[in-house]
Amino acid sequence: MTHSTVNDLSNFPKTIAFIGAGNMASAIFGGLLSNGLAPEQIIATTKSHESCERTRENFGIRATTSNHNACEAADIVVLCVKPQTLPEVAKDIAPHLSPDALVISVAAGIDIDSMTRWMGESTPIVRCMPNTPSQIQQGACGLFANDQCSQQHKDDAESILSSVGIAVWLDNEDDIHAVTAVSASGPAYIFLVLEAMIEAGVKQGLSQELSKSLAIQTVLGASALAISSEYDPAELRKRVTSPGGTTEQAINVFESKNLRAIFSDAMDACANRSKELAKAASDH
Ligand SMILES: NC(=O)c1ccc[n+]([C@@H]2O[C@H](COP(=O)([O-])OP(=O)(O)OC[C@H]3O[C@@H](n4cnc5c(N)ncnc54)[C@H](OP(=O)(O)O)[C@@H]3O)[C@@H](O)[C@H]2O)c1
Repeated sequence: MTHSTVNDLSNFPKTIAFIGAGNMASAIFGGLLSNGLAPEQIIATTKSHESCERTRENFGIRATTSNHNACEAADIVVLCVKPQTLPEVAKDIAPHLSPDALVISVAAGIDIDSMTRWMGESTPIVRCMPNTPSQIQQGACGLFANDQCSQQHKDDAESILSSVGIAVWLDNEDDIHAVTAVSASGPAYIFLVLEAMIEAGVKQGLSQELSKSLAIQTVLGASALAISSEYDPAELRKRVTSPGGTTEQAINVFESKNLRAIFSDAMDACANRSKELAKAASDH
């Protein structure tokens, strides 16, 4: 497993087409622009003329409703439509890809086998699973490349996805389900933890506003400490848990109510749903 983080794209020599310009696409091309990619190197497509106009105005990039024109002008095509729209779009654009064009798909639950069925055996494809903190360039994304991808294709995919956070290569496509359980759905778990901490703080007498500020900053600070520290999270936890102290009482309650088993069950359920959705999509 290798990973990389945000990088300088001012000399990135390729044109990138985004098929779909919604939440995920705009997060990624927003990241590319902040990392120095020239606006004229990005073409986004949308279904409606209104979205097309809005994308052009908000980001200063090229935008069109013609997927064919965008693909013909691009070295790399990033598929950012909803999973249910992908089969039709993938089949339709396949004849319009430039020779050796890399296709990157962010669609949840669509596997490489389905993509190659729709786009041709020889298409280099990188499948990825990003998450919503990509919107502020704090994303975590798992990547898997098919055998048709050269090292250059992989480097290009990594440059694009690492413009919105960390990008981690997976050796097995099936690991996408675990990535879904850890990082793609993970922000929702942390939001739930935040909700619970804020409510408990209010119950103990803090105002909603104060409890919210303290809880959010605590999650941010703990994450930043975990990233920068030489110690792993278990050791960091031990270092704030003095024997006989206050934190220990809270940790004892979490452990006695089996918080680890709850997370394990929750993440198994998430990964199982990811497998079910992938199976349903591959039967398409
Ligand atoms: N959002 C996330 O957190 C997240 C995380 C991981 C993966 N993903 C994946 O990201 C993909 C996109 O999700 P999203 O949340 O960004 O969706 P979204 O905001 O609904 O955006 C969809 C975009 O696709 C465009 N579109 C629809 N049909 C099209 C067509 N035939 N040709 C070209 N463009 C078309 C839409 O254009 P109009 O505006 O004109 O309708 C819109 O710009 C999904 O496959 C999802 O699984 C999302």
